[in-house]
Amino acid sequence: MSPGHAPRADGAPEGLLDFVTGLLAREDAVLRAIREETPERGLPPISVGPDEGRILHFLASAVGARRIVEVGTLAGYSACWLARALPADGVLHTVEFDPRHAAVARENIARAGLSSRVVVHEGPGAKVLPTLTGEGPFDLCFIDADKEGYPVYARWAADNLRPGGLVVCDNAYLFGKLHRDDLPAGDADAPKVPAMRACLRGLADESLFKSAAMLPTGEGMAVAVRR
Ligand SMILES: C[S@@+](CC[C@H](N)C(=O)[O-])C[C@H]1O[C@@H](n2cnc3c(N)ncnc32)[C@H](O)[C@@H]1O
Repeated sequence: MSPGHAPRADGAPEGLLDFVTGLLAREDAVLRAIREETPERGLPPISVGPDEGRILHFLASAVGARRIVEVGTLAGYSACWLARALPADGVLHTVEFDPRHAAVARENIARAGLSSRVVVHEGPGAKVLPTLTGEGPFDLCFIDADKEGYPVYARWAADNLRPGGLVVCDNAYLFGKLHRDDLPAGDADAPKVPAMRACLRGLADESLFKSAAMLPTGEGMAVAVRR
């Protein structure tokens, strides 16, 4: 750090990160409406935020993605960010096991003008992913569903990504509990800790991925590049 430069991350001066979001992670009216209306439509307010949406768009653009898989659609907010990075003949397969979420997502994807590039599959990730193998290999796989399923989804990604393709896992800090061995048995996140650790160990397996890193978003976004 050069003299005079303010510290970043947690020590960022007030307003800096909001300023950067305003510059780089702007949502247009459609994306903002999809995100803001999600709880109004009775769905949980657990989509990625605008900064994470922009990171997804950046990553998909950086690898020239033409074929993407997402596990965990919710209302389609992250799906819209990802699909916007696709060329007109690209495709995003997104998997959602709650039929109500899938229905809202289809509506939102249509209003964003992205229905021709996005297929919403209804069902549990572990059952649907094997049916998508023939559509690959994929350029990017975004995992954002049940945490217990992450090791299985990440392994499927390793088997179905092209060399240089990316796996991206949201909530990798596991709500700040990833490192905790002392969680009370009643903590609903306790069973998710070993699953998220297993997922991250998989990403660190250098026989499968040539580089893995944690993007230090608020929730932690783990990324790895297929060997
Ligand atoms: C965090 S939300 C996804 C948010 C979305 N990626 C976004 O940022 O807009 C997780 C979603 O995964 C779905 N889900 C949970 N378990 C699942 C499973 N086993 N298979 C597929 N989807 C699942 C939930 O119903 C929920 O809609």
